[in-house]
Amino acid sequence: MNQFKAGEAPEAAHGHSDLQMELAEVIRQRAAISAVLRAIASSPHNLQPVFDTILDSARRLSRADSGVFRLMEEAGLRLVASKVSPTVLEEFSPPPKLVGPGSFYDRLIATKLPFHIPDVAAHELYRAGEPLAVTQVKRGFRTLLFVPMLRNEELIGSLSFARQHVEHFTEKEIELVTDFAAQATIALEIVRREQQYRQLQMALAHANRIATIGQLTASIAHELKQPLAAVAIDGGAALRWLAKQPPDNDKARGSVEHMIKDADRATRIIGGLRDLTNQNAPRAEVVDLKEAIDEVIVLTYSEAVKSGVTVSTRVLPELPRVQGDRVQLQQVMLNLIVNAIQAMSGTLEGPRELQISVDPSEGGVRVGVRDTGPGLSSESLSRLFEPFYTTKPEGMGMGLSICRSIIQAHGGRLWAIACEPQGALFQFTIPAP
Ligand SMILES: Nc1ncnc2c1ncn2[C@@H]1O[C@H](COP(=O)(O)OP(=O)(O)OP(=O)(O)O)[C@@H](O)[C@H]1O
Ligand SMILES: [Mg+2]
Repeated sequence: MNQFKAGEAPEAAHGHSDLQMELAEVIRQRAAISAVLRAIASSPHNLQPVFDTILDSARRLSRADSGVFRLMEEAGLRLVASKVSPTVLEEFSPPPKLVGPGSFYDRLIATKLPFHIPDVAAHELYRAGEPLAVTQVKRGFRTLLFVPMLRNEELIGSLSFARQHVEHFTEKEIELVTDFAAQATIALEIVRREQQYRQLQMALAHANRIATIGQLTASIAHELKQPLAAVAIDGGAALRWLAKQPPDNDKARGSVEHMIKDADRATRIIGGLRDLTNQNAPRAEVVDLKEAIDEVIVLTYSEAVKSGVTVSTRVLPELPRVQGDRVQLQQVMLNLIVNAIQAMSGTLEGPRELQISVDPSEGGVRVGVRDTGPGLSSESLSRLFEPFYTTKPEGMGMGLSICRSIIQAHGGRLWAIACEPQGALFQFTIPAP
C-alpha cells in the first residue's frame, strides 16, 4: 500500500537519507564506545590503554587531526593521553603535562560546557600571547574544540581536539563527541571504582592474614624452637664424634646432615611466614597445592597439638595442576584450619580430629577440611560467609568471607556442610586451567 502522493516522494527520500546519516552516526558512536569497553576488558589493571582508546575514538568521532585527553587533579589538568597528527613537526614541544590557570581550560573549568574556537589566531588569548594558544598556532592548529568530562556536575577531565586548518566543528560533531565523553566518563568511573575496590580487598585480605598469624604466634614460636634445639643437640654430638681418638668422621657427618635438615625446616617455616605476611600483588602461577598446604599445616601444627587435635592429611597422587596465587590459597587453608581447631578446642568430649583431603574433581581439585567440633547450626550455616559474622569473643568474622572471595577469584566455589554425627566440613574447588 503506497500512500505517497506525487510531490511527497522527494521529501520522503530526503527524510530517508537523513535517517541513514543518523543511523551511520549512531553506529559510529556505538563502535567508539565499544572500542573503549573492549580496551577495559582486555586491560583491567592498566588504565593507559583505556585512556589511549578513549582519546583515539573521540578524535575519530570528531574528525580532528589531533587530540589531548586530560584528567583533573588537585594541581590542575594532567595529560593522560595525546595523539598528535604525524604531520606536526617533531621539533615542536609536546603538550604540557599539567595545565594550570590562564589557558583555554579556564573557560572549560568555569562553564563545564563544550566550547569551540573556530580560529585560534583570531582569539584574544592568542593576541595576548598566552603560551598554549601561541604554541597551537605555531604547530599549525587553527580550529579547537574542548569537551568536558563530568561526573555529577563535577569536572573530572577534558577531551580537546584540533584541526590543522580553519574548519569549524559542526554542531553534530560537537554533539557526538560530547555524548561519547559522557559515556566514556561512566566507563572510566566504573574501572576506577573497581580498582579501588580491588585494592581495598587486597588490603583487607592482608590484614586478615596478619591477624590470623598473630593468633598463632606462640604456636609458631614453639614450632621453630624444635628444629633450632635439634641443631644445637646435633652440633654437640658432631663435636663429640670429632673429639674421639681417632675421630669418627662418619658419625660426625651424620650429625651435620641432621643439622642441615633441621636448619632447612626452620628456614621453610620462616619462609612460609614471610610469604604470608608480605603484601604482594596477586599472581597467577602454577601452584603445587600439596606443598602449599603442607606449609600451612606446619605453621598450624603446634596450635593443633596444643588444643589436643590430631591432624591427618589425605592427598591423592596425580592431582591436576592448578593455577593461582599461592599465598592467597594458603590464606584460605590457614583460615579453615584455624577455624576448625578453634571450633574443636571448645568441645568437652569426643575425639578432636582434623582431616584434610585433596582430591581431583571436575577437571580441577577439591580440598576438604573436616573437623569433629560442634558442627554448624542452621543459623550459622546461613550466615557463615557474611562479613563480620562471628560467634567468637575475639573474632572479626572476616575469615570466611575473605576465603570465599579468594576462591571465587580463582574460578572455584567454597561451601560448608554439617557432618553426622558431629563436626563441620568445608570444601572448595579450584578448576584446572
Ligand atoms: N569449623 C567450624 N565449626 C563450627 N563453626 C564454624 C567453623 N568455622 C567457622 N565457624 C563459624 O563461622 C563464624 C565465622 O567464621 P570466620 O572465619 O568468618 O570468622 P571468625 O573465625 O569468627 O573470625 P576471624 O575473622 O578471626 O576469622 C565463626 O565465628 C564460627 O561461628
Ligand atoms: Mg576465622
